[in-house]
Amino acid sequence: MTMTILFVDDELPLQRVINLKFKKKIRSKEWEFIFAQNGVEALEKLREYPQISMVITDINMPEMDGLTLLGEIHNIDSNLKAVVLSAYSDMRNIRTAMNLGAFDFVTKPIDFQDLEVTINRTLEYVERIQENQQNLQYAQAQLINSEKMATLGQLVAGVAHEINNPLTFMVGNLDLAEEYIKNLIDHLQLYQKEFDHPGATIKDHAVVIELDFLLEDLPQIMLTMREGTEMISEISTSLRVLARSDTQVRVAFNIHEGIDSSLMILQHRLKASDQHPNIEIIKEYGDLPLVKCYPGQLNQVFMNLIANAIDALEESNKVHSFAEIKAHPNKITIRTEFLENKTGVVIRIKDNGVGMSAELQQQVFQPFFTTKAVGKGTGLGLSITRQLVEEKHSGKLRCISSPGMGTEFVVEIPIDSGER
Ligand SMILES: Nc1ncnc2c1ncn2[C@@H]1O[C@H](COP(=O)(O)OP(=O)(O)OP(=O)(O)O)[C@@H](O)[C@H]1O
Ligand SMILES: [Mg+2]
Repeated sequence: MTMTILFVDDELPLQRVINLKFKKKIRSKEWEFIFAQNGVEALEKLREYPQISMVITDINMPEMDGLTLLGEIHNIDSNLKAVVLSAYSDMRNIRTAMNLGAFDFVTKPIDFQDLEVTINRTLEYVERIQENQQNLQYAQAQLINSEKMATLGQLVAGVAHEINNPLTFMVGNLDLAEEYIKNLIDHLQLYQKEFDHPGATIKDHAVVIELDFLLEDLPQIMLTMREGTEMISEISTSLRVLARSDTQVRVAFNIHEGIDSSLMILQHRLKASDQHPNIEIIKEYGDLPLVKCYPGQLNQVFMNLIANAIDALEESNKVHSFAEIKAHPNKITIRTEFLENKTGVVIRIKDNGVGMSAELQQQVFQPFFTTKAVGKGTGLGLSITRQLVEEKHSGKLRCISSPGMGTEFVVEIPIDSGER
């Protein structure tokens, strides 16, 4: 990563010397220098280039001197570190600068070797702080995420449980209702047979209620209602599978059940809308054994990867018409296989969405990295997924992708995975 250094001095020739002395570092993109001639200009540059990691500043300058600048820097970014340049004899200013929070000082005339050492030391310190801060942020986000998942899990499991009671009596009563209706129809038909001249009132009523159609349609209606209850029951089972909170112990788990539950929950995003036809799901399931794992965590992995695939398809749909998408349908292929050496299983989740450049692929596993709009993506999905696969299950996660060609994420889980 290139570190950006702001060099503030009113002596213009110094800029050329800096560029010359550190040309190797600049060429290898290890360092990058931005120059300003006084404090006011320095503050402008700091606002313009938020990637600046450190400031090297002279003390005596027109418009705004280095000491005033030092006082202002912390209002912009409290992580910024400053090194002051000063004549050796100017002990008073150096002391003031240090009191104002300067990280170090280099004496003038500049000894460039000394300056290089000081820059290295300062940048190392800045990097360490940035790293710590990111770790902290990541830990916090993970905590929020796992708390959210736990609360969501409880809520979902609760709802699934609550749905089951009314569902049970609907299913039970449907059986009875079907039987009663069949009996009533039989009974009616008996009447029709035995009394073939029932009189005008009954005949008229039969026309009004469209009796023939009704008798034909009723069994169909009952069938649809039964299918409806079966669907609710499947959703409820999926919710319970997904919300499995047995995160503390590893249990034997049917991976396909986890994938199917994730798909069921994401169903609303797979269905056709006015923007796109439905997303085809192609399942190529192999013959998998049960896998000893944390089911709730693996479900989270499947959810993240499938949700990303849907996002990638939606992104690619933005530049294609409905007809174009229909001709080249959105597809998610999910393939599973039992490794030949029987040590683990592989789950491949592949989409034909926007795909990723090699450069993007380098970044996607970093916490908070996202290309999605603010509020849409947190950029935590893949970093958590990687942690769940690699750390919690001693598995492997990799991706194969190129722009325009779609993306495949490959998850490998040992059949008896222990924590590393
Ligand atoms: N299947 C995919 N196809 C193309 N790009 C992808 C795919 N999966 C992930 N990416 C890229 O990787 C980035 C990071 O993904 P990640 O899941 O970590 O975060 P996110 O999806 O942006 O946000 P969230 O935290 O809500 O998951 C995405 O913003 C996207 O640019
Ligand atoms: Mg995501």
